[in-house]
Amino acid sequence: MDDIVKKYNASIFFDQRMYNEDIDGSIAHVTMLGKQGIVSNEEKDRIIAGLEEIRKEIAEGKILFTVEDEDIHMGIESRLIDKIGDVGKKLHTSRSRNDQCQVDIRLYLRKEIYEILNSLCYLESVILEKAEKYEDKITVGFTHLQHAQPITIGFVFMAYFQMFKRDIERLTDTLERLNYNPLGACALAGTTMPIDRHLTSELLSFTAPTENAMDTVSDRDYSLEFLCDASISMMHLSRWAEEFAWWNSSEFSYIAIDDSFCTGSSIMPQKKNPDMAELIRGKVGRVYGDLMQLLTVMKGTPLAYNKDFQEDKESLFDAIDTWKATIDIFAKMLDKTEFRMDQIEKQLGKGFLNATDIAEHFAKQGIPFREAHAIVGHMVKACEKKGCDLEDLTDEELQAIDKRVTKELLGDISIKSCVNARVSFGGTAPSEVHRQIEVGRQWLNSLER
Ligand code: ARG
Repeated sequence: MDDIVKKYNASIFFDQRMYNEDIDGSIAHVTMLGKQGIVSNEEKDRIIAGLEEIRKEIAEGKILFTVEDEDIHMGIESRLIDKIGDVGKKLHTSRSRNDQCQVDIRLYLRKEIYEILNSLCYLESVILEKAEKYEDKITVGFTHLQHAQPITIGFVFMAYFQMFKRDIERLTDTLERLNYNPLGACALAGTTMPIDRHLTSELLSFTAPTENAMDTVSDRDYSLEFLCDASISMMHLSRWAEEFAWWNSSEFSYIAIDDSFCTGSSIMPQKKNPDMAELIRGKVGRVYGDLMQLLTVMKGTPLAYNKDFQEDKESLFDAIDTWKATIDIFAKMLDKTEFRMDQIEKQLGKGFLNATDIAEHFAKQGIPFREAHAIVGHMVKACEKKGCDLEDLTDEELQAIDKRVTKELLGDISIKSCVNARVSFGGTAPSEVHRQIEVGRQWLNSLER
């Protein structure tokens, strides 16, 4: 190979992060070869001992891979042969790098998925803690970024809890479909050797061997699924990060993000910027890009293996690293953020937050909802003209709008009473948020970890 080709062709600089998985796959493979009598027991033992030594040397930084290694599979195999001699050449019997690289990625991704699931569970536990703390604290609920209805802060937390719950469930589904054993698919068509793919599946804790060798070496669906999961979850994180950024703005001041999670400005001494929230919002772009990259690589590729597929790793690794770091930083930032109730309370009087509750209240007294809606609309107009709140309108002013309406009919329309009364299943009342927290906690505790 021309030097320029060697460099362009090599994946060693990015696939060496899977060295442990490559060695695990090789050990399972040679264990099976030994059991099937394809290599002798003694040969099997020498190969495994050599592989374990190489694992140790890589971990200790004693092996430095170069472009000559091409990829992690060749890098480890050539060192094995250097170390134990000709017997090392038997390892690659009934195996191809086409199935080998699939084993490595599936094992590596499986390990990373466990970690990401743990991180998501930690985030959920922080959310539950905060939701409990702010279960009955009232804030402004928005639609179209306009004051809409009063809600509890615990309710907002539990909204995000549901998103991350779906992320966990989605990733768990992906893990289930991913966990099949490609080893033994070989180049594309299986082998004439008497291998036992069920045994290697068991040794590597895969559910079962994949069904069709040709599909196996051509398939990157599990990486694509993972990238979809990561994209959706990053989208959730970026939405909350955006809310953090504006809740933190001087105009809102709804929250105080801890200093340790803010940065300063090189010129403006007074600045305390929510850079972490903004970076989280920004990093979602990388992960969407990673998904698009692999979808585009896979598009239109014929069966079976094509070298295009080597381009399946860097974007996957980038998404793993980005998603994992983003969940962790978000969970810690959330933990270190408190709501400024004094600031929020100042906003609760604005925007007629209780208007819908009053209309519902009228409807309960027999006024058809459409009419109640119109009456309250007129009341809001009257308030705007007079510069007062809905509860300040006099009997005369109410009667002028509709004969049926009196101050007495209005009843208790304080923001707190309105929120407490929204007890419909999934609603914002503290009692209902309490139920959501309980159900959420039960679900989180039920997860196997
Ligand atoms: N480094 C390659 C990859 O990651 C391994 C498979 C190479 N197979 C081949 N037939 N050239 O895809």
